[in-house]
Amino acid sequence: IKDLSEQIKEVTKESHVRAENTELMLSFQRGQVTLPQYKLLLCSLYEIYRALEEEMDRNSNHPAVAPIYFPAELARIKSIEKDLEYFYGPDWREKIVVPAATQRYSHRLRQIGKENPEFLVAHAYTRYLGDLSGGQVLGRIAQKSMGLKSGEGLSFFAFPGVSSPNLFKQLYRSRMNSVELTAEERNGVLEEAVRAFEFNIQVFDGLQKMLSVAGNEQRQSSTDSKAVHGKTLQIPGTF
Ligand code: HEM
Repeated sequence: IKDLSEQIKEVTKESHVRAENTELMLSFQRGQVTLPQYKLLLCSLYEIYRALEEEMDRNSNHPAVAPIYFPAELARIKSIEKDLEYFYGPDWREKIVVPAATQRYSHRLRQIGKENPEFLVAHAYTRYLGDLSGGQVLGRIAQKSMGLKSGEGLSFFAFPGVSSPNLFKQLYRSRMNSVELTAEERNGVLEEAVRAFEFNIQVFDGLQKMLSVAGNEQRQSSTDSKAVHGKTLQIPGTF
């Protein structure tokens, strides 16, 4: 029987390719990420990591969570708050906007935190190992694309508690593999990992949709101001 870390990589391989090829991730890779895209992404990441990290904290003694609980090295919420304050100012909390897909993702995280804490490993894997992999390259590209000064508004990408992402990923995989799961639980975790990627893809697509609606409103408003009022950004279940 294979290690969980190998199995999880295998079952999510195809989803990873789809995630990389979302419009948002392609903008990053082409060095064309814009400030509006990045700001909206940060808003969604805030909701996602708040749910993930609150549920990890609450379940930190659960046998399937304890081995992969690394708040000092991995926790993102403070970094995201710093970035949001940088871009939106001190009243950033009132300015956060997220697509419905982000709410569905965070709702799922809170649900499994309560009902199936052993599935948290699938979500932690998907986000944190991604942040420590492709995320490191994306951070540098984002800085250049948006012309930001070194590190400003980019705390999300920085892991000061992780000196070697590759070594840390090795440790993380070995901790994942030490989690004892029944066959049924293991299958549940693998399924949940595919779902976790799917949630991320939906979030990225949701963001792009919000941006294209906002862009259309602006284009319309220059020719027909009446078309805009009262109709700003009406995306079902979002605002
Ligand atoms: C691993 C690139 C988006 C989740 C990796 C690796 C690269 C990479 C180069 C390292 C592979 C290895 O070390 O063997 C990218 C690029 C992306 C992207 C260029 C988009 C522009 C994403 C997204 C997610 C994600 C959106 C999930 C939300 C992961 C995970 C791993 C990983 C979980 C660890 C795989 C493992 O070793 O088990 N990615 N990635 N990636 N990525 Fe991505």
